[in-house]
Amino acid sequence: MKNIIIAIDGYSACGKSTTAKQVAKELNYRYIDSGAMYRSVTKYFLDHHVSITNPKEVVKALDQIRISFVVNSKGNSETFLNGINVETAIRKMEISENVSQVSALKAVRIAMVEQQRKLGKERKIVMDGRDIGTVVFPNADLKVFLTADMLVRAFRRQRELLEKDDLVDIDDIIDNLKKRDQIDSTRKESPLIKAESAILIDTTHVTVDEQVDEVIRMALTKMIPKVNGNL
Ligand code: CDP
Repeated sequence: MKNIIIAIDGYSACGKSTTAKQVAKELNYRYIDSGAMYRSVTKYFLDHHVSITNPKEVVKALDQIRISFVVNSKGNSETFLNGINVETAIRKMEISENVSQVSALKAVRIAMVEQQRKLGKERKIVMDGRDIGTVVFPNADLKVFLTADMLVRAFRRQRELLEKDDLVDIDDIIDNLKKRDQIDSTRKESPLIKAESAILIDTTHVTVDEQVDEVIRMALTKMIPKVNGNL
């Protein structure tokens, strides 16, 4: 079987990470949440009062940031920022409210993309984000682009936050998703855009299992070499 790179891009709360995690588990591949990297940078900037309008401060701060992923005893990947587990902290609304501004910075993107490419060196990887199929791995074997209706996305995100005992008003979530969609899609550096060769999946009326099955089916066609000749 061929070792492949699977890129899953799309809007916030469309089920990218749920799909990517599950696909990686079933294929025994590594899952990398590139959004967690931008969220970690945002946490560091907020904690250290880094001014995002000061390029020197940004570059200095980026130099101090080490992000890693560790698989826990349940088989789930957790994000570490300078050796500290930030998996729960980076999902808070305060981070969501600032992450798109931070991830629009060129210096931040250069630093993260370099790390993401290193993580993909061994292939056998599923990475989700906004620019994975367009910028990070333009030669990815399989590119998927997820979308869903705004209300469905907002309720999914609200349920996810509630599972972490974080009750957030649905209007605040819709507001945040719309703002991030806008910043992410219109920024100069690596905007959120569907790669030409990406397969579009609208997850509005699709279950997680159906989404996962669809991606696995497409992945298998890339992993299994075509048989030549007549059988
Ligand atoms: O989980 P959710 O879909 O809300 O977002 P995420 O994947 O955790 O990403 C958070 C933010 O990071 C996005 O809104 C983007 O601003 C940024 N991001 C990015 O610019 N490029 C990526 N490859 C991944 C995330």
